[in-house]
Amino acid sequence: MPVDIILGLQWGDEGKGKIVDLLSAHYDLVARFQGGPNAGHTLEFSGKKFVLNTIPSGVFANGTMNLIGSGVVIDVIALKNEILRLKDAGYDLLEKGNLMISKRAHLILPTHRLLDEASENQMGEGKIGTTRKGIGPAYTDKFGRAGLRMGDINEPDFKQKYFSLVAKHETVLKQLYNVEVSVTEEEEVFFDAIAFLADFPLVDSELLVNDYLIQGKKVLAEGAQGTLLDVDFGSYPYVTSSTTTAAGACVGLGIAPGKVGEVIGIFKAYCTRVGAGPFPTELHDETGELLRKTGNEFGAVSGRPRRTGWLDLPALKQAILLNGVTQLIMTKADVLSELETIYVCTRYREGDIERAHMPYALHRQELQPVLKAMNGWKEDIRNTSFRNEIPEALQAYIRFIETEAGVPVTLLSVGPNRRQTIRYH
Ligand code: GTP
Repeated sequence: MPVDIILGLQWGDEGKGKIVDLLSAHYDLVARFQGGPNAGHTLEFSGKKFVLNTIPSGVFANGTMNLIGSGVVIDVIALKNEILRLKDAGYDLLEKGNLMISKRAHLILPTHRLLDEASENQMGEGKIGTTRKGIGPAYTDKFGRAGLRMGDINEPDFKQKYFSLVAKHETVLKQLYNVEVSVTEEEEVFFDAIAFLADFPLVDSELLVNDYLIQGKKVLAEGAQGTLLDVDFGSYPYVTSSTTTAAGACVGLGIAPGKVGEVIGIFKAYCTRVGAGPFPTELHDETGELLRKTGNEFGAVSGRPRRTGWLDLPALKQAILLNGVTQLIMTKADVLSELETIYVCTRYREGDIERAHMPYALHRQELQPVLKAMNGWKEDIRNTSFRNEIPEALQAYIRFIETEAGVPVTLLSVGPNRRQTIRYH
């Protein structure tokens, strides 16, 4: 049985949480493969709203196991709080026994957060716009071979390793950023959280995932952020610190490329971006404001207003190519319902030259989007349940995207609730 991968095709916040929650009932295992608590997967059902940061979005499905994979970086304090929030809401994951954690997942230490903060503060205008949660510095230590992993927490020399890494961080903070820190108080909370998490199964996740596959069970690999934030292929340096593309699922879970089945790409009917960095189709006018308000485009983690703009087809096609997307899911079509005319970027123009691809140094280039105008549907679609009820103008919009992308749209999301989803193909 192959692994299906679900991921975002834009700059994150495509609505992955809702879709994974919806699909997870069909899977035996949902496994997060990268990123950290900078993800904010929002799920709504039965009149309740949940935001998941590190926990996979399959925890609400009965009979589905969930794994925090080896490619994820874990803030143990944040994860403990997330688990406690779910417990308060009636979902006791320890009792349900539906959450496992990879031994190989790296830890975000309190000093990683301070390093993130100090680095962003020092960069001033040129800052990346990170969530300041220590994710970048934790990945830096991972690749610098200095990191601590979940599996280390039960080793006799864990505290010794911890203190030696913290001492290194303190030196960097002092010498590079002129920041004197004391993390003693936070340390207590950190070690409490470690003790709390020790009750959850720590697993050799690469063996576990492959065992599921050998037994013919269904596995869904869940991505966070989006393809355009990929550390290699995103708009570097305005990217996240992990591999957000389909290849990241192989690396972050220990699955061979040949075991990948469907690659499900999620995109919004328009574009948003949070933080700094290039955004060719960005709108700075009242239409941009309308998308932000109607789409409630404010960060689930940071509360920051998201930048908004038209759908960017060259970027979407590049994301489809990089991931080998086999099916598309379009979300937030309802947000465009008020518009008379909808625009889609089909190419970029740079002076006299037209380009069909995102250039290498996107952040240095003054690109103008070449926009195609399409009719809006001017109809409330939030209660639409069937394909044949979808307005013709919206069907034409989807047809155009499918033709350009060469991949079918299989699901259409028209609201935040599980119910507001239409099977399209
Ligand atoms: P990241 O991994 O952090 O990128 O998050 P995500 O892709 O899971 O996105 P997020 O949960 O932030 O989703 C964005 C918001 O859109 C959430 O508040 C969802 O409830 C909401 N949402 C999802 N689908 C739809 C939809 O079709 N229409 C509307 N109006 N809202 C939606």
